[in-house]
Amino acid sequence: MSSTSQFSTLYSAEQIQKKVKDLGAKITKDFKGKAPEMLCILKGASFFYADLIREINLPLSCNFFGISSYSGTKSTGNIKITLDLISSVKDKDIIVVEDIVDTGLSLEFIIDYLKSKKAKSIKVVSLLYKPGQIKVKNINVDYYAFELTNQFVIGYGLDYNEAWRELPFIAQMNSLN
Ligand code: IMP
Repeated sequence: MSSTSQFSTLYSAEQIQKKVKDLGAKITKDFKGKAPEMLCILKGASFFYADLIREINLPLSCNFFGISSYSGTKSTGNIKITLDLISSVKDKDIIVVEDIVDTGLSLEFIIDYLKSKKAKSIKVVSLLYKPGQIKVKNINVDYYAFELTNQFVIGYGLDYNEAWRELPFIAQMNSLN
């Protein structure tokens, strides 16, 4: 673990890329014979998404959806669509690509929205998962790279008030934890 005064590295770029490769291989195997649509949840999942889809060996398609719920280090529970689905999900096998599942409220909102738009099937892959923080029932994180307790993390797409997304690694903010 390397650190500066502001943050400590939790997962290096190399560790992330290895996990992304493994997830890509699993999804390729599980979706053999299908042509899933990979749905990037903006903005946080964008870096993970770009790396993950290049590790999947399937005839996939890309779609994008933007929501926001966080302010600082807290989920407001007030979820807003910042960018509606770029294209229709009707009758498609959708793989939702999330940056992190914390309370699960965002994911619940996304899944309900996709169901209302008549997606054929919905699976979820998240870079990070905080199972101890979940506040909703009946949501399933089918694939994830790393499990966290209740740390607030930044980097590789994840932000603190829009800062630090560009870091190539995942880090814990020292001043907040
Ligand atoms: P949830 O609705 O509480 O599951 O939160 C999901 C969203 O909150 C994620 O997509 C992130 O954008 C944000 N979030 C949750 N935990 C963190 C964190 O540790 N760092 C940065 N963003 C986070």
